[in-house]
Amino acid sequence: MVGFVRTAIVVICVASSVLAQSDDTNPNNCPYACQISERYTEGCGWLNWSRCSKYRMKTSICYKPCATTATPPTTTSECTEYPCLMFHDNFDTLDFKVWEHELTAGGGGNWEFQFYTNNRTNSYVRDGVLYIKPTLTADQFGEAFLTSGKLELWGGGPHDTCTGNAFYGCERTGSNANIINPIQSARLRSSRGLNFKYGKVEISAQLPMGDWLWPAIWMLPTYTECGRWPASGEIDIMESRGNRHYYDANGRSVGVDAYGSTLHFGPDYFNNGWSRAHQSWVKETGTYGDEFHTYGVEWDEDAITFSFDGRQTLRVTPGETGFWGFGEFNKTGYENPWKDAPKIAPFDKEFYIILNVAVGGFNYFDDSYNNTAYPKPWTDATASQFWAAKDQWYPTWNPDVRGGEDAALKIDSVKVWKLK
Ligand SMILES: *[C@@H]1O[C@H](CO)[C@@H](O)[C@H](O)[C@H]1NC(C)=O
Ligand SMILES: *[C@@H]1O[C@H](CO)[C@@H](O)[C@H](O)[C@H]1NC(C)=O
Ligand SMILES: *[C@@H]1O[C@H](CO)[C@@H](O)[C@H](O)[C@H]1NC(C)=O
Ligand SMILES: *[C@@H]1O[C@H](CO)[C@@H](O)[C@H](O)[C@H]1NC(C)=O
Repeated sequence: MVGFVRTAIVVICVASSVLAQSDDTNPNNCPYACQISERYTEGCGWLNWSRCSKYRMKTSICYKPCATTATPPTTTSECTEYPCLMFHDNFDTLDFKVWEHELTAGGGGNWEFQFYTNNRTNSYVRDGVLYIKPTLTADQFGEAFLTSGKLELWGGGPHDTCTGNAFYGCERTGSNANIINPIQSARLRSSRGLNFKYGKVEISAQLPMGDWLWPAIWMLPTYTECGRWPASGEIDIMESRGNRHYYDANGRSVGVDAYGSTLHFGPDYFNNGWSRAHQSWVKETGTYGDEFHTYGVEWDEDAITFSFDGRQTLRVTPGETGFWGFGEFNKTGYENPWKDAPKIAPFDKEFYIILNVAVGGFNYFDDSYNNTAYPKPWTDATASQFWAAKDQWYPTWNPDVRGGEDAALKIDSVKVWKLK
């Protein structure tokens, strides 16, 4: 297995007695007080064996003090009094029993430009905050990798196995026309450790700033019982775009001073009633990237109600005909998959939470929007055009200041209450 000698920078933080390991290419990005030492390690990459020597994969290891005082998130299975805080994570630690990293290059059905890793460069906790930070694939594998490398995410072990092969998500070979996803990022889901039906969710978050970043805090159904997306529903608590000066055709901001909440539901991809259950807001002063705010949803048998800093923002009540009537789906000719279910169906099942930062792709950065600093650099979902315009967008991520964390989605806490 061991093929070539490659350089690795090993970063060792002065730590308390217990050490936990995490990875980071750039010692400056190590989120802990570090001592840096260099040494050579032997090994070959997991990409393409015959190309291993070309890609000097800098595996740097950043040791962080394993906070002995860290409290893992608390989960209460039995509530006796209500409201009952059934789950509380303040990210003293990144609890892998709750948060599973998705591993895929599939691009979420939008041919987004990132692939998702389980790597402490892209997801880590520091001082009680979870960071989801996008980085450049070329920084790890070299620029040539994008057009001539091979990305394989198949893996093998638990939490190391590709989680989504749809849209060529587990394996991609780069070419000039189809480059390998130029961004590495992270997407965490709670389905192994936290699933719930009805209640209240509050997530304190500071949104990433930087062009074409697409952060999301959302929920999907655990069992997909009513059928494939969007038949089993989707609850988007917060979606935003990192661009600082970005407007729709009416001149309304769709950048980092705006965000939206949405429900997705319908019998198939083409019949999705989301536009009836969607609202976006523009901040009067400043942006959502300036500080932490609380994004919430409260959800019961009658309604799904979104909130911002504790104030109600959007309330969706399907009415007596349920979401089928609400979406006017009887004209689709489909049989109603929710017909024998409560009117709140498909939202009458367990859901789990997802936290992620995507980049670019199809759909969300509409061609009609105006990025005033320079035009949207790609058409359709052409990652090569996006990558070729790196000198325009990458500086807006502020990679060289504050550890590049302006571009990170920061999550201070996740709380879930049972209300009855
Ligand atoms: C790996 O790299 C070699 C050398 O460039 C190339 O010939 C081969 O096709 C690659 N293999 C895969 C599976 O991409
Ligand atoms: C994690 O990411 C860093 C920076 O891109 C890289 O150097 C390191 O090799 C990665 N670790 C793994 C296990 O892929
Ligand atoms: C479809 O729903 C509307 C509104 O509820 C109703 O008026 C109409 O009769 C329904 N059509 C069919 C074919 O069921
Ligand atoms: C985009 O906004 C800029 C600055 O306000 C303006 O000069 C430009 O004409 C707009 N472009 C389009 C296509 O609306």
